[in-house]
Amino acid sequence: MTDFVRIVEVGPRDGLQNEKAVIATADKIELIDRLSRTGLRTIEATSFVSPRWVPQLADAAEVFTGIHREPGVAYPVLVPNETGYDRARAVGVEEIAVFTAASEAFNRKNINAGIDESIERFRPVLARATADGVRVRGYVSTVLGCPYQGDVPVADVVKVASRLHELGCYEISLGDTIGVGTPLKARAMLQAVASLVPLSSLAVHFHDTYGQALANILACLEEGVRVVDAAVSGTGGCPYAKGASGNVASEDVVYMLHGMGIATGVDLDRLGETGRWLAALLGRETGSKAGKAMAAT
Ligand code: HMG
Ligand code: MG
Repeated sequence: MTDFVRIVEVGPRDGLQNEKAVIATADKIELIDRLSRTGLRTIEATSFVSPRWVPQLADAAEVFTGIHREPGVAYPVLVPNETGYDRARAVGVEEIAVFTAASEAFNRKNINAGIDESIERFRPVLARATADGVRVRGYVSTVLGCPYQGDVPVADVVKVASRLHELGCYEISLGDTIGVGTPLKARAMLQAVASLVPLSSLAVHFHDTYGQALANILACLEEGVRVVDAAVSGTGGCPYAKGASGNVASEDVVYMLHGMGIATGVDLDRLGETGRWLAALLGRETGSKAGKAMAAT
């Protein structure tokens, strides 16, 4: 059987949430529709967070109702609390992601709550989601370092990840929010989490601040992880994580995987075109090296 990695495309959410200039709702919809035609099977569409905290995604409901939902593609959205859940369900969302962190300090800046409090907020959301047949993914941020606390003990990552798993999240995405990790640390962190949460329920989410993301992904693939988060054109960053830069570019991840003989189901040419289209929309060059190279050949 061919080895397969599922890419979770987070460009429309993580990629756009940190953009300063307002992006038109129609452009966000076009981005998601273009991504839907590349063969991606999971596209994180937007966030139902407080519009005061993330103004760029204040049009979440309009975006979600405006997209063409391709059969077989999941369109999860971020939900921080029951208010977000209500708003998401009102427009027919069928998959959500809750998010917390391994660092208290980051959580307070990002969601105005400590780790325990955030988990208590998720409890009713998970209960309702289970009753409604809505799938829930969980994020743990700052797994390899925190912009406020510095080092984050691996034991804290393991604890939060296993709590999200016990709560009923079908998959836990481990986020290097500020992109400070290096491969051996990433592997050790993953191994530690995998001692309590099955590897088949783990995903990795690397920001590329120090240019380590692909190397970190490779180290985690060697450990057996088969779900990788990435953002087309290397967009992204968290407005509440000082110094966070873009996510690893989806095009670069797909190029590496295909080169290793690992299938993704993604049409790399189409993905590269979408990345360049997005970069032009944002008024810059694509942040994907593969996307740039493909345009030049
Ligand atoms: P708060 O101010 O403590 O919330 O924020 P509150 O419950 O006191 O509510 C304050 C106001 O917001 C109220 O309105 C609520 O109704 C409203 P008012 O009565 O003042 O007019 N409100 C909402 N409105 C719409 N949708 C909602 C919602 N909730 C409350 N869901 C809160 C707490 C969690 C809401 C806020 O801190 C927040 O929205 N934070 C989101 C921050 C965020 O989105 N960060 C980026 C995503 S995480 C990330 O990027 C990391 C990741 O990529 C992985 C990685 O890289 O590590 C996932
Ligand atoms: Mg992120």
